Amino acid sequence: MTYRIITIDGPAGAGKTTVSKLLAETLGCVRVDTGALYRAVAFEIDRQQTAWKNDDALDLFLSGLDLNVVLENEEMRVLSSGKDITPFIRTPEITLLASATSARPAVRAALLDIQRRIARQQDAVFEGRDMGTVVFPDATVKFFLVADLAVRAKRRFDEMPDTAKELSRIQADMAARDDQDTRRTRAPLKPAPDAILIDSSRLTAPQVVEEMRHHL
Ligand code: DC
Repeated sequence: MTYRIITIDGPAGAGKTTVSKLLAETLGCVRVDTGALYRAVAFEIDRQQTAWKNDDALDLFLSGLDLNVVLENEEMRVLSSGKDITPFIRTPEITLLASATSARPAVRAALLDIQRRIARQQDAVFEGRDMGTVVFPDATVKFFLVADLAVRAKRRFDEMPDTAKELSRIQADMAARDDQDTRRTRAPLKPAPDAILIDSSRLTAPQVVEEMRHHL
């Protein structure tokens, strides 16, 4: 049996997280945040001090990696060797490291299976960078969410606690990450040819979901 798979790709801050949560809730299905898997890999690379630029060291690391996702109160948690590491994967350091390490083909290959395995079990909304292009080329419906850089940076800024970084710094980091994610040769951030493009710069999350539902 094939399940209904909806993909939402796009750059950081385009609203993928809020929108995918709302859409999954509306449709009564699970939401899978694939960025969290790349972050989990980066977290473990950092924790284990893996020389990830070295092919052999990276392969060895990946062969010992044991990642799983579970749902807890509708929220996705990432387990590494059974331990919930979700609270540790959103620091600025892990954010930048995830962008860099996700460019490694071996990392992408290792995560491909996990993502497809989840899709074989239930209807799901998958959010990420290459969901519609690489992981689920036959997805039921594909969306690509964009927004102006300034709008995306402001959204991230508003999500952060008072002590966090300045807006200009967030915008610069985001631009660097967009560049890194878009220019990598393997699975770069780009819309699938059959993806529906939505610009969320001037839309609220419910408005984006409303627009999406016209295509479902
Ligand atoms: O969506 P996010 O910010 O949590 O993603 C973290 C990093 O992981 C991002 O810089 C790019 C990478 N990523 C990816 O390469 N492919 C995905 N499907 C999801 C995220």
